[in-house]
Amino acid sequence: MIKDLSPFYSKNARNLQSSVIRELLKLTRKPEIISFAGGLPAPETFPVEAIEQISCRILRERGRFALQYGPTEGEMPLREELAKWMALSKPGITPANILITSGSQQGLDIVAKVFIDPGDIVVMELPSYIGGIQAFSAYRAKMIGVSQDSHGMRMDLLEKTLARLAKRHKKPKFIYVVPDFQNPSGVTLTEARRRRLLELAYAYEVPIVEDSPYRDLRFRGVAQPPIYGLDTQDQVIVLGTFSKIFCPGLRLAWLMAPASWTDRMVVSKQSMDLASPTFNQMIAAEYMRQGLLRPQIEAIRKLYGKKRNIMLKALKEFMPKGVRWTKPEGGLFLWVKLPRTMNATTLFRSAVDENVAYVVGEAFYCNGKGQNTMRLNFSYPSEEQIVEGIRRLAAVIKKNM
Ligand SMILES: Cc1ncc(COP(=O)(O)O)c(C=O)c1O
Repeated sequence: MIKDLSPFYSKNARNLQSSVIRELLKLTRKPEIISFAGGLPAPETFPVEAIEQISCRILRERGRFALQYGPTEGEMPLREELAKWMALSKPGITPANILITSGSQQGLDIVAKVFIDPGDIVVMELPSYIGGIQAFSAYRAKMIGVSQDSHGMRMDLLEKTLARLAKRHKKPKFIYVVPDFQNPSGVTLTEARRRRLLELAYAYEVPIVEDSPYRDLRFRGVAQPPIYGLDTQDQVIVLGTFSKIFCPGLRLAWLMAPASWTDRMVVSKQSMDLASPTFNQMIAAEYMRQGLLRPQIEAIRKLYGKKRNIMLKALKEFMPKGVRWTKPEGGLFLWVKLPRTMNATTLFRSAVDENVAYVVGEAFYCNGKGQNTMRLNFSYPSEEQIVEGIRRLAAVIKKNM
């Protein structure tokens, strides 16, 4: 047997980093831990009975079709439902624009595989979604971060970045943004900045990848139009997913792009999984067809909105002076900034000793910064756990200040 496989690894495989956070998260498996670390939806929201009924009917009436391979692009009834759904923000979308993927994470991998050669530039928010960072670094992208404030990515800094790159005759392969209740920070890109982002993308001829799993989970404030809805030049690739508005276990999501752009993406998906599960797609399509997705989203919004308020109240009550946090208007996460002198990574072990966990913020920074930040999830823990967990976390922070 070959003892050391590493000489056989490709350069890309060598570049795959087992993320620091996964290592740290292993410490959080103790049952007594209150974890704000995961990004899991609340399982009590999963529509188990509806899925059971729909599944039984599909198996009874079309079982042999449901258990067969399907087309790489996805099952037509689901693509049709999604085209209608997406067309609410931009008329003219058809199934030709929709590619069903096995989770948005696969969408990110497809985008990375199709666009990125080693050393190619991807521009993204600072901080940004860790799964995006992982997917792009697997293809050895050079990631350039643009800071955000409470209104999302700063367009003045993006403009400077693009201009600086253009001066050196460098063009990013795409700009990656999570514009709604961003994972990890919870902030939302304003409409004015979305418009400016498009202007810059047009001027510098760079595609935009709009990854928006949380868009429909708004608890308060005014919805901002999706970037693709404002796009007049067909320059946006959208990633949408059922994970946070239905359930993640079906592993169903979609990639929406100008029809003439999808060829390479379909081929690249073929080598990953040939097609996403037919049965699951039929379930999702039927769930949408019966009009069940809207009320499901309403119920999730209500629950997460309540949990978000409980977490904000607890933060206000327990956190020492000098600690700041975002107040997301939707989604699953909020972002905590400790005083600059503190380090959330070194603090992590003390927090776990006190049976509370979070994700260290630096994992979300493509430039290795953000040591004084952390991400907290409020969708998964119970209301009681949120209050008790924040109390414990605040005590750990105070002690280490
Ligand atoms: C911004 C973002 N993109 C993509 C994903 C992946 O989602 P999926 O479950 O569809 O693979 C997540 C999951 O948390 C996410 O937060």
